Amino acid sequence: MPKLDTGMVTPAVGGRGVAGRIFREIQTTIDQTRGEAGALIPVLQRAQGLIGYLPVPVLQTIARDMKLSLSTVYGVTSFYSFFTTVPRGKYVVSICMGTCCYVRGGERILNTLQKELGIDPGETTSDGLFSLEMVRCLGCCGLAPVVAIEETIYRRMTPTKMKEVLSAYA
Ligand code: FES
Repeated sequence: MPKLDTGMVTPAVGGRGVAGRIFREIQTTIDQTRGEAGALIPVLQRAQGLIGYLPVPVLQTIARDMKLSLSTVYGVTSFYSFFTTVPRGKYVVSICMGTCCYVRGGERILNTLQKELGIDPGETTSDGLFSLEMVRCLGCCGLAPVVAIEETIYRRMTPTKMKEVLSAYA
């Protein structure tokens, strides 16, 4: 079972304010996908897109409203690496460890990131600025090794280039 953040208070779905609006939007996605095979995935994607991660009360609400067991929702959340139950940093740094990137020095880039940020994959820096994650392939193997920060792809990375890129975000 993943370590889960339980800090968020579940608002009533019809509640006011930002939390109420978020829950109404999640509810709309649930209604739009009701009865479809695999409906849980788009609902979780919508929730994470709105909140940035998937807090336990949100997973509980989704399970209840979709008439699924909480363990089913947890199972899907933990199976797919793009779902997270802990808050992510302002910038998500995705290091590609697919075959091309790995053989072209991806591990050295990962080591640089771990050292510079002081975190391991799956963690967020204490200032909330960076989260580090490993991905399998970013689809641009010819430019390996590759790192993505949010939507920006950085190609043919070296430890020196990686430090320079990070300093631009700090
Ligand atoms: S293996 Fe890294 S981009 Fe494909």
